[in-house]
Amino acid sequence: MTHSPVRFGVLGTGRITRRLIADLQSTPGASVSAIASRSGDRAKWSADSHGIAAAVEGYAELLARDDVDAVYIALPPSLHHEWTLAACQAGKHVLCEKPVALSAAQVSEMIAAANGADVRFLDATAWLHHERTDQFRQWLTTTGPQEDSAKAAAKKDELFDDESESDGEAIPFRLGPLRHLSASVSFPNPFLDGDHRLHASLGGGALLDLGWYSAGLIRFASGVLPKEVYAQAVMRGEIVARVSATMIFDDELTATLSCGFDTSTRKWFEIAGTDASIVCDDFTRPWAEKPARSWVHEASGKVHSFVPPSEVNVPAEPNSAPEGGVPVHRCLQERVMIGTLIRWICEGAPSGQPAPWNAFHEQALHTQTMLDALDESIRCKQPVSLG
Ligand SMILES: NC(=O)c1ccc[n+]([C@@H]2O[C@H](COP(=O)([O-])OP(=O)(O)OC[C@H]3O[C@@H](n4cnc5c(N)ncnc54)[C@H](OP(=O)(O)O)[C@@H]3O)[C@@H](O)[C@H]2O)c1
Repeated sequence: MTHSPVRFGVLGTGRITRRLIADLQSTPGASVSAIASRSGDRAKWSADSHGIAAAVEGYAELLARDDVDAVYIALPPSLHHEWTLAACQAGKHVLCEKPVALSAAQVSEMIAAANGADVRFLDATAWLHHERTDQFRQWLTTTGPQEDSAKAAAKKDELFDDESESDGEAIPFRLGPLRHLSASVSFPNPFLDGDHRLHASLGGGALLDLGWYSAGLIRFASGVLPKEVYAQAVMRGEIVARVSATMIFDDELTATLSCGFDTSTRKWFEIAGTDASIVCDDFTRPWAEKPARSWVHEASGKVHSFVPPSEVNVPAEPNSAPEGGVPVHRCLQERVMIGTLIRWICEGAPSGQPAPWNAFHEQALHTQTMLDALDESIRCKQPVSLG
């Protein structure tokens, strides 16, 4: 029987846990019952800081506990595969940090292990769960012939906040057939020398760490794998410090990707159709001091600006700017993501319909398949075909 609330155990005590533990603790239907570290002292320090009842030395020891229904795996990428398989074997549901693994073969095994054990598996790619991402999904239905776009437009809801002269009754544009996708994600070398991102053996490098987002966006918009990719990288020792790549799909669609540990913070995409393009400058996580936003540029030059309804006229988080700091906007994407996993755990799949997690598994598997091909292209300095 499913325990309510779903009790999470956390594997790892690193930087991301500071945010995600608070999100787990504040999502209805979830609680955090235990946290594990390689070091007992560190587990205790982290448990005390977050008000978690059990501090556990050793990840396997946490998986053996009866008061843990699901695990949040917040370890370096090289450990995601091993601990997801172990968690599934122990009958625990899994929320696993990105990049899901080191290869598509590993991702396939992780999905198969979860399905085989009848536990739910979700990668912690939170932007896929943001309210505005649903808006993008809706807009992406306007890439077909005119009549299909009209039907899709009829489904449009009040997500529209238009700076133009449109009446806001329906999606006031169509993208038309997609022609080019671009996504760039980078951070200006924020990591210490000991960080796993700088170590190839731990799954480091900008291709896996940030390419996960860029390749994921390209797959999200295209819905399919490219036919061919070509990537070039600037290396720092054994790891990719910066990568740029081109891709070609069937149907005249092309894409470009750029990621790096040595350029200013970037997290933008452009999805360009024949008739209009979507632009978003912070798709992985909205800038803290601004509501989530995006724009559509029509071929005519008309520009539409959007903010999701839940963020229109919403003040910044209370007490988020003590002593005159910049107020911070709330961002719910992680809590929505956790809520989705809780729903899958508690309710299962709706009868007669495909399991809702299949689409997320395929998105993750295709993203990792693209990263495998990009990695191969960097190594062989040649274009690489997929399938
Ligand atoms: N930081 C972010 O903003 C962020 C955002 C999104 C996603 N992520 C993803 O979350 C995962 C963890 O990232 P992070 O930034 O939290 O990393 P981190 O600060 O380096 O923490 C990783 C944790 O993994 C454990 N660990 C086990 N074996 C390790 C090893 N050989 N070397 C280093 N750590 C080891 C450590 O916990 P114990 O020593 O306590 O066992 C460590 O605290 C990564 O997959 C990353 O891509 C991070």
